Amino acid sequence: MINPKIEKKLNKQLNDELYSSYFYLAMSAYFENNSFEGFANWMRVQSEEERKHAMKIYDYIHQVGGKVKLTAIKTPKTEWSSPLEVFKDTYKHECDVTKAINDIVDVAVKEKDHATNNFMQWFISEQVEEEATAQRLLDKIKFIGIDKQGLFLLDRELGKRTSEN
Ligand code: FEO
Repeated sequence: MINPKIEKKLNKQLNDELYSSYFYLAMSAYFENNSFEGFANWMRVQSEEERKHAMKIYDYIHQVGGKVKLTAIKTPKTEWSSPLEVFKDTYKHECDVTKAINDIVDVAVKEKDHATNNFMQWFISEQVEEEATAQRLLDKIKFIGIDKQGLFLLDRELGKRTSEN
């Protein structure tokens, strides 16, 4: 039977991953509205990946005999002033997710819940990648600045992203 403290934390993270999916979908819609189809594609794939993260937690809670409690998902921001602002938000959001994941591991260790600690290690590694990718894209967009050709080329590159895991 799952420790109630851990169950609560995992349900919170499940909700947060669904919010992440929603947040990136809002970014995708913003890019669609501004005819950046490649950026929109990248964000749409990101949104799908976040839903997969949520479902990993959903399945795990059931696997360890817990109860999934779905709650309201807050309304995401829907307007940004530029692609730069979107990727600043993306990077900050991923740093916040990393903190939340680390917090679950801290509690799992404290509660001697080795199974949850082990389960969460996938998320620890994933966050290293998520932060690095967001940072890399943020750096590229900062470098490009207001160069329209640079943005066009990056849009084309991001249009190639497909779902991996
Ligand atoms: Fe589920 Fe982007 O972290």
